[in-house]
Amino acid sequence: MDDLRQKYLDAIAAAANEAGLEELRVAAVGKKGEISLKMRELGKMSPEERQVMGPKLNALKDEINSALALKKEALADAALNERLEAEWLDVTLPGRPRPRGTVHPVSQVTEEITAIFADMGFAVAEGPQIESDWFNFDALNIPPEHPARQEHDTFFMSRAAGDDRPPHVLRTHTSPVQIRAMRAQGAPIRVIAPGRVYRCDYDQTHTPMFHQVEGLAIDRDISMANLKWVLEEFCRAFFEVEGVELRFRASHFPFTEPSAEVDIRCSWADGTLKIGEGDDWMEILGSGMVHPKVLTAGGIDPDQWQGFAFGMGIDRLAMLKYGIPDLRAFFDSDLRWLRHYGFSALDMPTLHGGLSG
Ligand code: PHE
Repeated sequence: MDDLRQKYLDAIAAAANEAGLEELRVAAVGKKGEISLKMRELGKMSPEERQVMGPKLNALKDEINSALALKKEALADAALNERLEAEWLDVTLPGRPRPRGTVHPVSQVTEEITAIFADMGFAVAEGPQIESDWFNFDALNIPPEHPARQEHDTFFMSRAAGDDRPPHVLRTHTSPVQIRAMRAQGAPIRVIAPGRVYRCDYDQTHTPMFHQVEGLAIDRDISMANLKWVLEEFCRAFFEVEGVELRFRASHFPFTEPSAEVDIRCSWADGTLKIGEGDDWMEILGSGMVHPKVLTAGGIDPDQWQGFAFGMGIDRLAMLKYGIPDLRAFFDSDLRWLRHYGFSALDMPTLHGGLSG
């Protein structure tokens, strides 16, 4: 019995955690524990033997139980102390403010553009950035061998080996949203579609990902005159100058006929750009009357409906309006740049409240 006692007291003293302690309790005083089994043997003993052994075994059981309880408490204390050490916190230290970001100029300008076109009755449409080559090219009257496909510096997605369907592309412009919107809504329709586009190009004024906003207006008798008015209204509101002057220059896009590129009058005196004055012209967008084939691809009858479309670079508009010289910095995620060029989250552009605060 002394051996049994010493064995369990030593083991309890050495137990490293509550799980180990519980194993010892089961082994010693559990239902089938060594001490419990010994107590069961009392029944087979003579009354004299039992009188000696009974109290001894009971005392042993009590001793083991209280050793277990003490050790359990000690282990819990140790665990608590360890946590208190580890989770120590000086509540008197000053608070550390989180780095504060601002609204990115691209987001702000997108909101400004949306506010202006919403005021003219345009809704916002969206499409995927990974686009099928049908939506990005064919439906826009750019067949497979058309040179425009090369000019777009397209990023192609990969297909599984053996799958020879044409690969999807990262959309090279927002024009595929014209097709998606026409197919979803039919005519008449008036939408803009701002979003990310991708071309394999990188220098001070080009990044492989940039932003465009598409415009599309289809009705029974929409003409180039409506296009011109809408774009002039837009530029006047966006650049916040009354005397904006636009120049429509004949151009070519496969998806519009006739097509025009639009330049805005500006001056570069002393290296700063002023919109609406001077003798320089800067190209800001492409536009035209939607090609009948494009209407057809959009599920709209070109004998019944006609309209205009335009596409412009949002980043470029942001650079022009807010005097930001290098496009690449737009996408560096540099908080210092953002604090300099960014906008307060409360600076929501509205036509009545002022677009740029
Ligand atoms: N998709 C053309 C581009 O990316 C812009 C454009 C849109 C031109 C709509 C005409 C009409 O350059």
